[in-house]
Amino acid sequence: MKRILLYVVIAIVVIVGGGYAALVLKKPAMNPPVSEKVEATAERLQRGKYVFESVSDCEGCHSERNWDKFGAPVYDGRTGVGFVFPPELGFPGKVVAPNLTPDAETGLGSWSDGEKLRAIREGVSKDGRALFPFMPYTHFSRMSDEDAYSVVAYLNSLPPVKNRLPRTELNFPVNLMIKFSPQPVTAKVPMPDRSNRLKYGEYLVELGGCAECHSQMEKGQAIEGKEFAGGHEFNFASKLVRSANITPDEETGLGKWSEQRFVDKFKGFANMTYDNAPKMNQSNFTLMPWLPMSQMPEEDLRAIYTYLRTIKPVHNPVEVHPALAAPVQ
Ligand code: HEC
Ligand code: HEC
Repeated sequence: MKRILLYVVIAIVVIVGGGYAALVLKKPAMNPPVSEKVEATAERLQRGKYVFESVSDCEGCHSERNWDKFGAPVYDGRTGVGFVFPPELGFPGKVVAPNLTPDAETGLGSWSDGEKLRAIREGVSKDGRALFPFMPYTHFSRMSDEDAYSVVAYLNSLPPVKNRLPRTELNFPVNLMIKFSPQPVTAKVPMPDRSNRLKYGEYLVELGGCAECHSQMEKGQAIEGKEFAGGHEFNFASKLVRSANITPDEETGLGKWSEQRFVDKFKGFANMTYDNAPKMNQSNFTLMPWLPMSQMPEEDLRAIYTYLRTIKPVHNPVEVHPALAAPVQ
């Protein structure tokens, strides 16, 4: 009897251990990087800068910013140099947005354009490891080929900055689970028709990661039925903010907002710069990329509004700036 039990235990250890070893060795789904070199046209550089700064806020995650000023503007000369996320954000480990400048030693200087494209849209780093999907590649997989090329052209044009950062180190089991996130982009991704406001708005919302910040999350997934309904809490720089409900709910969302009010809200930040941004405190604390997004052309903001009107209204009251008895540690 005892012996049978022993065999059962050994069998379980072998199966579980084998599964574990297989997971440790498992490589994420990936294709080899394309060998093409991205040509930098003036049009691509302009569009790439726009996507990098204002639409996808690559700059927001991959730069050093002044968190004492409203909107946390980027320090002069620190665009794309990377950022180590502080532990109070509650990540499962150490998360580092790498240096994206073309510095050969500490940035992307030694990467081919194909490797950059693959990292951005497919979530695989140069060395073949899966990227933590906080880097929004699961959304960027829908970035059009032309926009992805434009972003790479723009990255290549950044001044190289030497800034050595540690690597992301995730805790078990997240470090193994993320291997299932990368997905190769196998078909051509055309640019959506920009004259179709709804379609282009949907595209901008996808690239802008609005759902990521504006949905309450559970285990890294938006709680079903609550997409865009706000309440995602950010505890950062000793302050706390919750994202707003941006569904068309009349009472608790943007239901009563006219298109003009929506546009004006963004454009209200258009003249805010590093120098004149007011101090950021608990009552105005935000992670919403107001400063970069205020630079979007009105047409693009109107397209976003058009799309947001079509999502399901969700009644979800959110206290965006809770009064805090004491600063959050
Ligand atoms: C919400 C924050 C966030 C945004 C927005 C974001 N990134 Fe990232 N990015 C990260 C993090 C964090 C990593 C590192 C993940 C890891 O190491 O597992 C990363 C990794 C990368 C890498 C791989 C670098 C390397 O050394 O492995 C590239 C390239 C990259 N990002 C480019 C971009 C571009 C281009 C954009 C905009 C289109 C962008 N990122 C937007 C957070 C972000
Ligand atoms: C990095 C996180 C983040 C991203 C990305 C983000 N938001 Fe926000 N947003 C917030 C937070 C936090 C607030 C609440 C604080 C504030 O109003 O600044 C907010 C507020 C807003 C508001 C104001 C709502 C109100 O009731 O006053 C609108 C409108 C909005 N976001 C729209 C968007 C859209 C559209 C996108 C995508 C294009 C987007 N946000 C992307 C974090 C984010």
